Amino acid sequence: MYVLGIETSCDETAVSVVKDGRKILSNVVASSLTLHKKYGGVVPEIASRMQLETITAVADSAITKAGLKLKDIDLISVTASPGLLGSLLVGISFAKSLSLSLEIPLLGINHLYSHIYASFLNGLGTQMPFVALIVSGGHTSLFYVQDFHRIKLIGQTLDDACGEAFDKVAKILGLGYPGGPLIERLAEKGNPKSISFRCSNTKNPLDFSFSGIKTAVLYKVKSQKLKVKIKKDIAAAFQEVIIDTLIKKAFLACKLKRTNRLVIGGGVAANNRLRERFYRQAKEKKIRLSFAPKELCMDNAAMVAGLGFKLFKNGGEYVA
Ligand code: KG4
Ligand code: ZN
Repeated sequence: MYVLGIETSCDETAVSVVKDGRKILSNVVASSLTLHKKYGGVVPEIASRMQLETITAVADSAITKAGLKLKDIDLISVTASPGLLGSLLVGISFAKSLSLSLEIPLLGINHLYSHIYASFLNGLGTQMPFVALIVSGGHTSLFYVQDFHRIKLIGQTLDDACGEAFDKVAKILGLGYPGGPLIERLAEKGNPKSISFRCSNTKNPLDFSFSGIKTAVLYKVKSQKLKVKIKKDIAAAFQEVIIDTLIKKAFLACKLKRTNRLVIGGGVAANNRLRERFYRQAKEKKIRLSFAPKELCMDNAAMVAGLGFKLFKNGGEYVA
């Protein structure tokens, strides 16, 4: 079964063809990132205008790269929520027209659930139930997944998302946007132990709060002359405390839910230091850890097509 996935929840215009929920035949992502850089974050109007202009070409390219014709597509799966409204609307309208004209079914997919599904595209597979940690620019959430129709939110950020904290701290350090990869690179040469940051406590131990640490970084920066060495140390210390917090809460969730399986996805999950430390901890705690492949951590449509197949096979429920 050939599924066409469409993802336009933020700044990307992404279309992919996935066969039987596993085999990625094409995965085209056009990003309007460079247009947002000078504003230090995504500008919704710019994003949706670019998506409107590019979606037809991106879809054409994805179908051609898959070696298929439009008539070969069996199902369309599109990100329906959460996301930027104007951007979602572009993808959904395009998907609806295509499904009507081709007379094939259409599924609306929850963006966060598709980030969870990205781990199933690594070829390893994961048994259910499991705990999923999704760390992206817009969300930081812990889910308990019994199957893809029974996903329960068990923890989430009360303020900034994890990726958003990376982006804001990068801005404070004058690094640019998106901040995650820039902080990661700078942190490699810094000493994480030279500064002590900490994340605020939360009433529900599985919730997150990252806005305090961003303010702490701001005060640290304002309190002294920002030399390169200090920037590196701040980046390293910030990244380390974020990873400490994610590890603590994700493994606590596994303990509370009595599962030894953990799945991690979302843009921040591309971070090497995070991956390495999670793997180490998982080995120690005997948890089976499954990361989304690095190239599928950031927003893409392969995960949307993959989840679409899975849901369709299990009854075709609209989940967004
Ligand atoms: O999942 P994603 O592509 O979009 C959303 O759904 O939000 O995530 C984008 C976020 C950005 O905040 C970006 O700074 C962060 O992921 N990110 C990283 C890294 N690569 C991307 N954060 C930390 N380390 C990275 N290597
Ligand atoms: Zn995302």
